[in-house]
Amino acid sequence: MCEIEKSGYPHYMLKEIYEQPEVIKRTLKERLIPGSEGIVLDGIGLTQRELDGVHRMVIVACGTSYHAGLAGKYLIESLAGIPVEVEIASEFRYRSPAVDKNSLVIVISQSGETADTLDALRTAKGKGARVLAITNVVGSTIPREADYSIYTCAGPEVSVASTKAYTSQLIVIYLIALQLAYIKGGIGREVYRQMLEAVNRLPEQAQKMLDCSQSMKELAGKHKDIEKIVYLGRGLDYALALEGSLKFKETCYIHSAAYPGGEFRHGPIALVEEGLLVVLLATQDALIDKTLANLKEVKDRGAYVVALAKEGDGEVGKLADRVVYIPDIFDEFTSALAVIPLQLFAYYSAVARGRNVDRPRSLVKSVTD
Ligand code: AGP
Repeated sequence: MCEIEKSGYPHYMLKEIYEQPEVIKRTLKERLIPGSEGIVLDGIGLTQRELDGVHRMVIVACGTSYHAGLAGKYLIESLAGIPVEVEIASEFRYRSPAVDKNSLVIVISQSGETADTLDALRTAKGKGARVLAITNVVGSTIPREADYSIYTCAGPEVSVASTKAYTSQLIVIYLIALQLAYIKGGIGREVYRQMLEAVNRLPEQAQKMLDCSQSMKELAGKHKDIEKIVYLGRGLDYALALEGSLKFKETCYIHSAAYPGGEFRHGPIALVEEGLLVVLLATQDALIDKTLANLKEVKDRGAYVVALAKEGDGEVGKLADRVVYIPDIFDEFTSALAVIPLQLFAYYSAVARGRNVDRPRSLVKSVTD
């Protein structure tokens, strides 16, 4: 079956959302040693000694790829203890970034042709930094010019709104973070193995997440006339809130904003009024008490809250108006599953509004100029 046919789906975006379990499996294939014994990071080319020499990383990307990079920051810093900065490529390229031969710059780009990201790569190389590219399109310019490259295995992504490529980027980032953590001694053998086992279960869990499709369609229909929406999350849930917000914004043409939960009371909470739709990500056990405080704050001010929480949670379900549950897995890996309802909600909202789902106005698949 040719991957660039719609295969009976009404839009490429829906097809590509539904391809994600298979994409996760393909991205893991040949990189996870059977029995969760280890990771083979093809193409990274960095020797163990070079990896050991990595004391600072800078992740540079645009849009959805930037959101994947932000998740990478949280994971690599918490698991491997290596300082990671994440920058928007169009900012990085026009300033004089302090990178040098001791820096590893990771550029993330689905298309491998985004002008800002390509120029950021050239800026970094010009300063002596080594560059690793995480890309979906084999033979595109960015991996050709990078020192090392890892391919996501999402297959051709036709819809302008990136979905399966984002999830595949997350999976590659999980593997890099776990490998660095193990090499640097951030995690021991047993935790490493348990986390690899958890990553290995993501394809089947992603398949299960697709069961929420009908309820996301119904939710989208209920809120098809809203004129603004707010996404809230903390830590990895904030990186995911940014992605959920962008999906909604670019497909529905509605103002959508994502805030770190802790930042909400420093101004944005003034936006909350009766009936405001708030999507609250509550998948991080380590931050659940603070996230519940956010939930109470917005509920007290009349918001309608759709929350994403882990199965077995008791508190979020009592307070939110709607809850979508994800399997109770490591905090580190929840985004790869929790993004699916967010993608489906954006998709069905765009359809309910009669938008050009696969080709939203003013957008192109790859910004090459
Ligand atoms: C994602 O839904 C958008 N279409 C857009 O933000 C995209 O992620 C961005 O332009 C980066 O593209 P790239 O990954 O191909 O570099």
